[in-house]
Amino acid sequence: MCGIVGYIGEQNAYPIIINGLKKLEYRGYDSAGVAINNLKNINVYKKKGKVSDLEAFTKGKDISGTIGMGHTRWATHGVPNDVNAHPHTSMNGKFVIIHNGIIENFAVLKKKLVARNYTFKSETDTEVLADLIEYIYLFGKVNAETAVRLALNKVIGAYGLVVMCTDEPDKLICARNSSPLVIGYGDNEYFIASDATPFVQYTKKAVYLDNQNLAVITRDSVTVKTIKNDVINPDIQQIDFDSDEAEKGGYRDYMLKEIYEQPKSILETIRGRVYENENAIKLGGLLDVMPKLLNARRIIIIGCGTSWHAGLVGEYLIEEYARIPVEVEYASEFRYRNPILTQDDVVIAISQSGETADTLAAIQLAKAAKACVIGICNVVGSSISRETDAGVYTHAGPEIGVASTKAFSTQVTVLAMIALLLGKCKYMIGQQQYHQLLTELLSIPEKIEHTLQSAAKVEEVAKLYKDSRNFLYLGRGCYYPVALEGALKLKEISYIHAEGYPAAEMKHGPIALIDDKMPVVVIATQDKGYEKIVNNIQEIKARKGKIIAIVSEGDTVISKMADHVLEVPKFDTAIGAITTIVPLQLLSYYIAIMRGCNVDQPRNLAKSVTVE
Ligand code: AGP
Repeated sequence: MCGIVGYIGEQNAYPIIINGLKKLEYRGYDSAGVAINNLKNINVYKKKGKVSDLEAFTKGKDISGTIGMGHTRWATHGVPNDVNAHPHTSMNGKFVIIHNGIIENFAVLKKKLVARNYTFKSETDTEVLADLIEYIYLFGKVNAETAVRLALNKVIGAYGLVVMCTDEPDKLICARNSSPLVIGYGDNEYFIASDATPFVQYTKKAVYLDNQNLAVITRDSVTVKTIKNDVINPDIQQIDFDSDEAEKGGYRDYMLKEIYEQPKSILETIRGRVYENENAIKLGGLLDVMPKLLNARRIIIIGCGTSWHAGLVGEYLIEEYARIPVEVEYASEFRYRNPILTQDDVVIAISQSGETADTLAAIQLAKAAKACVIGICNVVGSSISRETDAGVYTHAGPEIGVASTKAFSTQVTVLAMIALLLGKCKYMIGQQQYHQLLTELLSIPEKIEHTLQSAAKVEEVAKLYKDSRNFLYLGRGCYYPVALEGALKLKEISYIHAEGYPAAEMKHGPIALIDDKMPVVVIATQDKGYEKIVNNIQEIKARKGKIIAIVSEGDTVISKMADHVLEVPKFDTAIGAITTIVPLQLLSYYIAIMRGCNVDQPRNLAKSVTVE
């Protein structure tokens, strides 16, 4: 959470910082602030609200300078207001700092600073860090870099931060531990950001800082060190996406764009990995760990939110096709419950951002137990992708909308590929069935494209139910996690209470909720559980619930029972299950828009949850 941008070079820093912050607003939008250095003064402006509020606030003010930094906040310590907004300035004005993360021992450090007559304006942990750096600088009589380094050695917690010092105005010092930080290398200019989107239009050369690393950046050099002062030769990488991928491209919102991008994203996910002619799936990122995977005693899938839902679909697919026992756990629960893990277990960690704190901590736990850990991430170079033993990128392209859409469908696509690859290697799937499954997998982009053409019908249904106070989502087998994901989408962007449930479980409790005002979304495509789900629909009907059914094209049975049917193309195997999420994403999208909600930046949420 929180987005960070820094710039040092020959251009005016302010517009680069502001535009960069707009691209990082998905990380938090409680307040925003900038510090612009014109080598005489460091002007700090900060405001509660969005980056646009900050922009309005800075109108007519001095924003000159070619060195600057900015922050968009998701509040942890202290309510969202102007005072708690970043940047924070140290008590004697020597240091200005922006920070993403949590300084866990801030209370202890604060107490010590108070004993040395430091006073604080804000409730934040970040201001404590600014003062700690200043205290070390003034009383230790060291330079700014050393002060930052020594201070970070006293800190417990997560940080991605940028520091300016009034006495050393021609540099930026940045550091990272558990919160992401990337340095963009331009010509006589450098950029710092929480991810590469703010600077990819200027340069594609970047260094992803490692944990407990610090960089001192001037106009013509970058020096990377550990916080123990060991110099590091950074690995300069090439960023593999274009700036327009992170733009709205004519769509009203990022979320809608990302829903519509799914056919293309899934094509990217399977590109170079599925070979229909050779009847083969090749996942280069898993080559080294294939023996581990094939001999795994069990696979444990961990993730949070949507990624956890994708994991549940993965459980179904891997058990169905590879016959390896799978357990799926919330990373946040797994990390704290002393799980029994051995080196015969394989852990698959799923994360769009690759930065989710709970998932990262769960990975570290699994590694300590010597389990093999595989990552499924979207963001290249992210912490999780670097922390894991092996992995498969989803290649969905930047996902900016806070509500995950293409991340989910591409994660499920990767899990389907893993399931089929393992199933084939373990001789659980015959050649002919394998070929049918590959064909189905390859047809998904087209089927999603086709499903998207029914958006207007989904919009009509949304119109009828936009004022409902509750929704129930039901599904069986691999559609149960799709139901959970549909409910999560509605909750997070429209603020309507929604619950996902296994359809057959309904009669063990939730059926009591059903009356003539309750919309029940049922995933009822024609496959294994079809007859059972038809029975469940009858049960809802008998209680006068309003049924919105997701059905296979041409279904004439359910269309007679349901109040509304939304069709998806027919498919023969569970591999096609991904398609059913599309009408649910659209339904939540249209309802939220009709209720006047900001779908890209729903209240209280942030895209990557880098705190516990
Ligand atoms: C989904 O719409 C949410 N924004 C959220 O549940 C998200 O999936 C979760 O925070 C996990 O994020 P990650 O995939 O980046 O780890």
